[in-house]
Amino acid sequence: MIELVDARNFLRSIRETGYRSLAHSMAEFIDNSLQADATTVSITISAEQGGTILIADNGVGMSREGLRKALQFGGSTRFNDRHGTGRFGMGLPTSSVSLAKRVDVYTWKDKIVLHSFLDIDELEESALVSLPEPRRVARPPFIPKSTHGTAVILIRCDRSGKLNDAAGLAQTKFELRRIFRFPLQGILTLEVNGEHLKHFDPLFLSSAHMGVSAALYGPPLEYRIPVGNHSATVRVRFAELPISVWREMSNSEKQALGVSRGAGVSIVRNEREIAYGWYFFGSKRRENYDDWWRCELRFDPELDEQFGVNHTKQQISPTPEIDRLLTPDLENIARTLNFRVRQEFVRTAKPKTHQVPKVVSTGDRYLPSILTSKRSPVRNPNYLLQIDEETRSTAFFRVELAGSRIAVWLNPNHPITSAYLAAKSEDEGQVELFEYALLFAARVELGACNQKQLWWFRHFRTEWSDALAAFLGN
Ligand SMILES: Nc1ncnc2c1ncn2[C@@H]1O[C@H](COP(=O)(O)OP(=O)(O)OP(=O)(O)O)[C@@H](O)[C@H]1O
Ligand SMILES: [Mg+2]
Repeated sequence: MIELVDARNFLRSIRETGYRSLAHSMAEFIDNSLQADATTVSITISAEQGGTILIADNGVGMSREGLRKALQFGGSTRFNDRHGTGRFGMGLPTSSVSLAKRVDVYTWKDKIVLHSFLDIDELEESALVSLPEPRRVARPPFIPKSTHGTAVILIRCDRSGKLNDAAGLAQTKFELRRIFRFPLQGILTLEVNGEHLKHFDPLFLSSAHMGVSAALYGPPLEYRIPVGNHSATVRVRFAELPISVWREMSNSEKQALGVSRGAGVSIVRNEREIAYGWYFFGSKRRENYDDWWRCELRFDPELDEQFGVNHTKQQISPTPEIDRLLTPDLENIARTLNFRVRQEFVRTAKPKTHQVPKVVSTGDRYLPSILTSKRSPVRNPNYLLQIDEETRSTAFFRVELAGSRIAVWLNPNHPITSAYLAAKSEDEGQVELFEYALLFAARVELGACNQKQLWWFRHFRTEWSDALAAFLGN
C-alpha cells in the first residue's frame, strides 16, 4: 500500500501556499470566528517566542469532534457549504503553517477547555505523522473570560517577516478593515493589539472626510447567471471620489485615507472581500487617475466555480464566459470614469501662473531675435505659463507676446494639460522639463521670420495637438 499523501513533504509544501499578506492569512481565522457566531475577535501580535499571534473569539466553540477536524487538512464541519466563507476545510491549518511552526487551538464551553496542536518540528522528528487527540486542560490565563469561544495561538512565526514592524502592522489593519467591512458595520468587533478597527469602505460611500464622501456613478449593474435550474446574481457598482475637495490633501494624507494606490475592483462574496485588483477592465491600463473612482462586484457563492474561488480566498480567476459577460461593460465604464476624472482635475485646477527662472532669459541673446508688432526687437523676454479658460481651439497651447513677456496659454480641455496639472500637483520638479520644452517651442514660434513660416508653425502646433489628443484621449 502506498500512502496517498506524503505527510511530511505535504506540510513542507503547504507552508509555501503564499498568502498575499499577513492580513489575508489572518482573515482565515476571522472567517472561522464569524461562522462560529463570534461578535468579538481580538488579535494580539507580538515578537515573543520568535513571533506570536493570538486570535481569540467569543464564538460557540467546538465539540471534541469539531476540534479533531479543525487542525486536519481537509477537515471541516461544513465541507462545500456555500452559506458562509468556509467550505474547503483548509483555512485554519494552511494559514497556520504558512505563518508559524506551531499552532495551538483552545476551545471552551462553560468550564470545559479542550486543547489540540500541530507542531511542525515535532512532526518532522516523530515516526508517526498524526494529530494529537484533543485533551481537556486547565483554562490558560491568556484566553478571554467569555463563557464560550476559541483561541488560536501561533508561535515561532518564521514566515511573516518582522511582526513588530509598525508599517507592516498598519498595512495589516488597513487590509482587515477593508476585507471585513460588512461585518465591521454590523455584528463584529475586531481588535488588533488593543485597537478597535473601524470598517474601511474602498468606495468611500459610507464615510465622510473633510465633510464629503464619494457618490455612486450610475445605477448598479445586475447580471443573472444560470446555475442548474435557477439563476445566481452578480451586482456591480461604481463610485466617484470627491476630487475637488480631496485633491487638496497632501500625498501622505491621501495615502493614509486609502485614496492613493486604491485603483481597482473589490470582489465580495458573502459579505467578505475575497479579492482586490484590476479585474474585468480588459485592455484598459491602470493609471494614477484610476485611484479616483472605485468599483465593487458582489456575487453569490453559487458562482464560486465561475469566478474561480480557491481555498486561499485572496484572488479570483474567472472563467472565459464570466470574462466575456462582464468585461465589455466594466471596461467601458472604467474608460468613461477615467475620462471624467481627467476632466474634473482640469475643471478644479487652480489657474496658477508660473514664472520660469531667470536663467531662461539670460540665454536668450543667443537665439534669433523676436520682433514686436512695431518691428522692434524684444530684449531679455521673460516667460509666463498659464491656463487659457476661454480657448476654443484644439491646440494644446498658444503663444502671445505682450511687451517683453512671452505668455504661453495652456488649453485646459486638452488631455495633455490635465496630465500636466495632475503631475504638477504631485511634484513640481517632475514637470519642469516639459515646461521648458513648451516655452522654447513658443519662443521659436515667436521668432518666425515671415508670414509663411508663422503659418507653418501654427499648423504644426495644431496637428501635433490633435495627434496627441487622439493618443492620450483613450
Ligand atoms: N474559531 C472557531 N470557532 C469554532 N469552530 C472553528 C473555529 N475555527 C475553526 N473551526 C472549525 O474547524 C473547521 C476547520 O476550519 P478551516 O478554516 O480549516 O476550514 P473551513 O472553515 O471549514 O473551510 P475553509 O478552508 O474554506 O476555511 C471548521 O469547519 C470549523 O468546524
Ligand atoms: Mg475556515
